[in-house]
Amino acid sequence: MLIRTPPRHEPTASEITPRRVWQRRRELVRAAAAGIALPGASGLALAQGPKPEPAKLPAKPGPFGTTDKPTPYKDVTTYNNFYEFGLDKDDPVRNAGRLKTRPWTVAVEGEVGKPGTFGIEDLLKLAPMEERVYRMRCVEGWSMVIPWVGFPLAELIKRVEPTGNAKFVEFHTLNDPKQMPGVSSSVLAWPYVEGLRMDEANSPLTLLTFGLYGEVLPNQNGAPIRLVVPWKYGFKSNKSLVKIRFVEKQPITSWNRSAPQEYGFFSNVNPNVDHPRWSQATERRIGEDGFIQRKRPTLMFNGYADQVASLYAGMDLKRFY
Ligand code: MTE
Repeated sequence: MLIRTPPRHEPTASEITPRRVWQRRRELVRAAAAGIALPGASGLALAQGPKPEPAKLPAKPGPFGTTDKPTPYKDVTTYNNFYEFGLDKDDPVRNAGRLKTRPWTVAVEGEVGKPGTFGIEDLLKLAPMEERVYRMRCVEGWSMVIPWVGFPLAELIKRVEPTGNAKFVEFHTLNDPKQMPGVSSSVLAWPYVEGLRMDEANSPLTLLTFGLYGEVLPNQNGAPIRLVVPWKYGFKSNKSLVKIRFVEKQPITSWNRSAPQEYGFFSNVNPNVDHPRWSQATERRIGEDGFIQRKRPTLMFNGYADQVASLYAGMDLKRFY
């Protein structure tokens, strides 16, 4: 297992040349070699692409970084699951542009001493932003390495003062048919709801996430605020959150409701427990596909056992899948 804190001298993604600048430079170099003139190929225009650069989201390097190579930005932002925008991997990038991410609020309710509605601008200021380079494993058998920007969910939890009855936390995604063409489909009961046990929600690994690669989240990745739980299958990390609810009973989550025999509440990455329809022993790392596709062994708890195995001590993980 390769867990480390990045040494100080290593640049974070946000310190590296803005993505569109170097992409544009490469286009210009190629075009110059081919004797083609590109529009805007002079002076300041060198630093400008056709679309405005997404807003920067500076962050200090956080803990639990992996040495695995980050998945290229293009793959992270064009190969997505976000069923509210369609079922194909390229539907979210094509359809999520219409999602309006300002104004945006997140209601925090249920078993808390200080319930309330938080504006996104206040949430962005709630705690220092960290860059966390996490491995992410989708239940479908593919994985990515993503430099997320956010802070531990625990920072929000402590501010809302959960009561003694708060045993679980529910997360609700926006459900707006006017903006989300996919919610007319009956593939899931909307809104998309996920849940964590309180100790999982308070794990220092669990992130409230606002950005990736040093920039604000693209809509298709769950703008303006999503959950990231790296030791669980990707579907536990729901996107575009509008409600966080503290409850006493284990929540019924969207995937658990739609196919309980396939998707349990815990959904920890576990190479020893197969999905009823396929093995979970290996994974395909997106962006690494070559002529011969390399399969990697999937790691217990996606490689985060040191941080989270103790949460499940004494539990039969075949039963609590
Ligand atoms: N959240 C919502 N609201 N709707 C979804 O369809 N898909 C999940 C998860 N969060 C999903 C969601 C699944 S299956 C995965 S693998 C991850 O988002 C993918 O996140 P990414 O597109 O940012 O890589």
